[in-house]
Amino acid sequence: MTTSPLAELSTHVSTLKSRIVQAATLAELLADEPFIVGKRSILSTLQKSLGALAPEDRKAAGAELQEARRGVEETFALRRAELENAARAIALEADRLDLGDVVVAHVTAPLAVGHPGIVAATQRQLEDVFVAMGFTVSDGPEVESDWYNFEALNIPPAHPARGMWDTFYVDLGEPETVVLRTHTSPTQIHLMEEAVAAGTLPIHGVMPGRCFRRDTPDARHLATFHQIEGLVVDRGITFADLAGVIETFTHAYFGADISSRLRPAFFPFTEPSAEFEITCTICRGEGCRTCSQTGWIELGGCGMLDPAVLEAVGVHGDEWSGFAFGFGIDRCAQMRHQIADMRALIDNDVRFLRQFS
Ligand code: PHE
Repeated sequence: MTTSPLAELSTHVSTLKSRIVQAATLAELLADEPFIVGKRSILSTLQKSLGALAPEDRKAAGAELQEARRGVEETFALRRAELENAARAIALEADRLDLGDVVVAHVTAPLAVGHPGIVAATQRQLEDVFVAMGFTVSDGPEVESDWYNFEALNIPPAHPARGMWDTFYVDLGEPETVVLRTHTSPTQIHLMEEAVAAGTLPIHGVMPGRCFRRDTPDARHLATFHQIEGLVVDRGITFADLAGVIETFTHAYFGADISSRLRPAFFPFTEPSAEFEITCTICRGEGCRTCSQTGWIELGGCGMLDPAVLEAVGVHGDEWSGFAFGFGIDRCAQMRHQIADMRALIDNDVRFLRQFS
């Protein structure tokens, strides 16, 4: 009597099942698939050998083999699902953003890393230039009393000079007594008051910060903008020191081919006062539309501290003198990077922002 080709079937089945269960990774299992359930499996070899059986035995043997195959395939499918789940869990774990105790979404896209905006970056560069020149950096409140923003700066209530600053008033206390600062000059007042109280004069400081005016935004103005204020209070300070500081700053920040010039102007808190202008950075002084063919662009105001301001903060004018200047940080960024329309600074269009990383 010939032995049935299926005599060893149950041994083969257990060998196949233990191979399946021992596969440690999905890749390992899939690589073994042809040998377990595919064409190169013992099950396929046995299938072929059934042809040698007598027709009356073939049907039962076929059914037996079919049953065995179903069992192996089931084990294979179960193990495959198990390994797939494990692989997914590992991938998720690797992608998880762990912020302390808070587990955030699973992120599969690369994270975009931000960078300081152009105004913040410009402010830092300006601070660096002034720190290198021996200035300290301070800041002050964005909401000010009328006294700091105007009165202490020699601009009494209802004085026509107030028209120079279109003011946002805060609905607090008596009407029109609390303002969003219209310039950084009130920080001068804070600094001088503190230095007088602490007996720490002289002052060589710059004060950057956010300012607000009821301006309609256009290519060269924003209602929320940034200024940097400069203040020097020391013995024997003259207008020549002011002009020297402005010129040194202009070369350091804009480059050797950009110069500054001062033109007579009026501010209630400085006397004499000047507007300071720099060589137009668009045409380098040749004359163009941006500078109205003059070759110069106005950057800010400056002047010698008015005796009335020194008096308001208790600085003795017979011992101390000084100067102040103030200019727009946004305007600086616009000039340095040749940005045609300043409103681009607040649009938050990433295509614009990315150019300044
Ligand atoms: N605060 C003035 C302005 O915003 C600029 C300025 C500062 C002028 C300091 C003189 C001295 O217009």
